[in-house]
Amino acid sequence: MQKYALLGWPVGHSRSPRMQLAGFQALGIQATYECLAIPPGEFPEQVAALPARGFVGWNVTVPHKERMYAACHEVAGEEARAARSVNTVVVREGRTYGYSTDGIGVARALEHDFGFREAPARQLYLGAGGAAQAAAMYAARHGAREIYLANRTLEKARELAERIRQNAPGCQVHALPLDQAPQAVSACDILFPCTSLGLHQGDPMPIPPDAIPPDLPVFDFVYTPSAFRNALQAKGNPVCDGREMLLQQGMESFRLWTGQEAPEADMRRGLDSY
Ligand code: ATR
Repeated sequence: MQKYALLGWPVGHSRSPRMQLAGFQALGIQATYECLAIPPGEFPEQVAALPARGFVGWNVTVPHKERMYAACHEVAGEEARAARSVNTVVVREGRTYGYSTDGIGVARALEHDFGFREAPARQLYLGAGGAAQAAAMYAARHGAREIYLANRTLEKARELAERIRQNAPGCQVHALPLDQAPQAVSACDILFPCTSLGLHQGDPMPIPPDAIPPDLPVFDFVYTPSAFRNALQAKGNPVCDGREMLLQQGMESFRLWTGQEAPEADMRRGLDSY
């Protein structure tokens, strides 16, 4: 029996277990996939103990992706190195190898949900935290021409912009305060709302929905609808949630763990069973 897990804090709401288990089952791989809630203060010790507990691979979700980047024996994936974020770990001979499949998950979801076969040329991100970092870094390294990072704390957007420039010199990256996002949005081909606003009822909207052109596609990472997403949908904007991205990043993790192509239809069914 091969043991896999998802590490987070909290992790109770995750939809990964049934998705991954459906994939293992379809290929006849005897495996378990459990959710491990690990408090930030205990992360290094608990993670170091996982190989000895028999775990051969795991996913990492908020708030631990940067901690996992620092805790791997080796950051093996180029995307993980650029984003300084690890969401997938493979254990080989007791050593942990870190990868990030978030960026490719977004890219494949953009194609599936909106038909983008290449990175949208001009992209606007609201927020500069973990989600914005992974998606924007990948996009800049894979064909986006111009990226706008709009964040409440301008300094954070500037730091991320600088790191993206270093990793993707061909991409123009602009940092701006969140309240200037409405001026940038009409120049863009896609909007990524990546602030944590909307996770709690009564949260304000990151920017006024009226500022967003009605035909602009909006890529929301969160499965649960927010007032912002509802308002955009009501305006007629093409809007997707994080479901396809979750599937695609999970399929890529599955491929790294097993060395086999992930059975998409089965994993999609597992995900849809929630
Ligand atoms: P995630 O990993 O989901 O991206 P995160 O790294 O905690 O989460 O980032 C949260 C993002 O939401 C940040 O860009 C944060 O802005 P700051 O850098 O200024 O903190 C943004 N955010 C959180 N609360 C916000 C609020 N009330 N108004 C505007 N932006 C907010």
